[in-house]
Formats: sequence, structure tokens, C-alpha cells
Amino acid sequence: MDGNEFIYEADKNSTILEDGSFTWKAPSNIALVKYWGKRNVQLPENPSISFTLSNCFTETTLEFKKNKREAKVTRLDDEVGGLSATAIEQYHEFDVFLDGERKPEFKKKIGVFLRRIIGVIPFICDYDLVIRTHNSFPHSSGIASSASGMAALSLCIMSMERALNPSISDELFYKKASLLARLGSGSAARSIKGELVVWGKHEHIQGSSDQYGVAFPHKVHENFKNYQDTILLVDKGEKVVSSTVGHNLMHGHPFAQQRFAQANKNLSKLSEILQNGNLEEFVNLVESEALTLHAMMMTSNPYFILMKPNTLQIIDKIWKFRKETGSHVCFTLDAGANVHVLFPAKEKVLVNDFIARELVDFCQKNEYISDSVGTGAKQM
Ligand code: PMV
Repeated sequence: MDGNEFIYEADKNSTILEDGSFTWKAPSNIALVKYWGKRNVQLPENPSISFTLSNCFTETTLEFKKNKREAKVTRLDDEVGGLSATAIEQYHEFDVFLDGERKPEFKKKIGVFLRRIIGVIPFICDYDLVIRTHNSFPHSSGIASSASGMAALSLCIMSMERALNPSISDELFYKKASLLARLGSGSAARSIKGELVVWGKHEHIQGSSDQYGVAFPHKVHENFKNYQDTILLVDKGEKVVSSTVGHNLMHGHPFAQQRFAQANKNLSKLSEILQNGNLEEFVNLVESEALTLHAMMMTSNPYFILMKPNTLQIIDKIWKFRKETGSHVCFTLDAGANVHVLFPAKEKVLVNDFIARELVDFCQKNEYISDSVGTGAKQM
């Protein structure tokens, strides 16, 4: 695929689409090798891999109606992920609702997204849109809804494309959905498929690309089937530093190049581990990745810390528990204070009991979410 196949063009089988709606449910994901640092537009500085989740998802309905207006399109010679693009100067003809409530504050991010995708989805200008969205997890849980939200919206837009061009292949449909999602939020590129998704070009992962996520191409060991992720809600407030700012601080960061090289190596190692089932090595690599991500934040300038005292308390408890019991429970973190507690399905009883006894007290209002690896987005 060279990039041009992503640009929508009506073909001989194209149909007319006046109005209608599509609904998709897309999962959140948790990175094992982390993406931190990007270049224009939303391309990762290093490849990453994540478990797709199951219970944490966004369900989005996109209602569309053909408009009669002339779209106010300006050619900006913008570059969208290596694809030449046009941009709409102002794109106000859409509305966003979360759980039935109008959310004008979401329009900025979605407006930027719509402008970015116009190069590959030019027909979007011809429609007025209403986006109705619902998250399975509380909005103020500190769990980013941008990955699942952008993935669900991108899939709805791809359903519009499929309605217009019914001959589009499944392969192109999902790759392009991931590409669009990436333009909304980088890690959203990994929220289309399951169970393990690689995003970013890696020399040993066949088919991998900076433009979109692909399913991990090898057979995964039984140990990683139905892997569990319990998300401990340590801090449900707004993050002090956004991911966008954090990614940008990797430009000129003193350890940036070493970090990008390390992530590439870690993905090679993890690829082996996922195939050979070595849980000790999995634990070591995944925790090291989480701490390295936060070390990058602490060594940026300006520096910042997203972990909270309770994040460290939980990590300490996990380490002690592992030492005492020989369990393979481990933690990972995304760009926030919440802790993802990862463990094999066969340790469910043991670890759930540990979480209830020793970790829940460190969560805000004792709240946590039990999740596990999922198979990807679904059309409703
Ligand atoms: O997708 P963004 O721009 O919100 O970045 C998220 C980055 C991390 O969650 C910290 C890591 C990752 O790979 O998901």
C-alpha cells in the first residue's frame, strides 16, 4: 500500500447516500510497549503494541444528512501522514452529544480530526453530522476515552465510505479506519482490531506501518489468552499535562533517541515472549516500559510527574505480593496516575482476592474496573 489507495474516489459501483446513521462500538487499549513522541501528522517516533480491551469501550452513532452548502475548502498543502490533504477552513456543521447531552467542548478536538481526514475522506464535507457517543466507563474516571472514541467515530465514517463504495475490501476498510483513528488520537490506531495490535513500522513485524495498526502477526502463547487487566482508578481528575504536550516534549529530549531505539528492541523481545509464553520476562519488560514512559516525563523540560503517591503504593504492594506468592501479576501505566494490573487468566482468583484485600483502598472511592483482552470493534 503506497498511500494513494486511502484516498476516497467514487468508482463504477458507487451509490448515492442522502442520509442515515451508523453505530460502532470500539474498545480502549493498553500499551505494553509505549508510544511516546510523534512527528507530523500523528506519526509515531517508535512502534508500540497493545492489548485491546473488552469492557472499556465507546459506542458512537454517527447521523449524517447531505447538505446543500458549498463546502468552504482551502488547499493548504497540508501533509496528513504523508498523504497530501486539503483542509476545511471552518467545519462547524456537526454536533456532539455524550449520553444525550450536547458537548460543545468536544467540538474543537473533533473539528481538528475532521479537518485532518478531509484529504482521504473528501465526501465528509457534503454532510451535516450529529455524533452521539457513550462510554462504558465513567467520563471522569481518568481513563482516556480518546482512543476508543476516535476509533468508533472513524469506523462510522468508514461505514459511510462503504455505503458509497460498496466494493471496498475488508482489508482496506479496517486499515483505513485505523489510519483515520490515528489522525484523531495516535493510540486510537490500535483500537480497531484485537487482541494484540502493533502500530508503527518495525523491521521484524511484517506488515507494520506508521500509518495504521495491524494485528500482531504471530501465534500467541496460551499464557496470554484472556489476559486480565484490572484498572485501579487512583486519580479521576484532569491530567496536569496532556498527552499532546507530553509527546511534544520528546522533541529535543536528552534521551529521545535512546528511548526510540529501546522501544524498537523491546518490541522485538516482546514479540518473542508473546510467542514463547515466558511470563517472568513479560512482567519485567512491561513494568520497565511503564516506568520508562514516566521517566521520560520526569526528564523532559519542563518536567512533570503524573503518578500520585497511591500509584507508588500500589506498585510497592504488587512487588511484595509477587515476591511472596510467585504470582505473575504486574502493572503498567498510561499517561496518568491510574494503574493497570495485568495478570494471566489462571491467576484470576488469587489476584482478584489480592486486589480486593490490598489495593482497593488506594483507589478513589474504592473504584476499579475489571477488564480483559478483547477482540476489537463491532458494528451495532
Ligand atoms: O494517543 P495519545 O496521543 O493520547 O498518546 C497516548 C500515549 C500513551 O498512552 C502514554 C502510550 C500508548 O502507547 O498508548
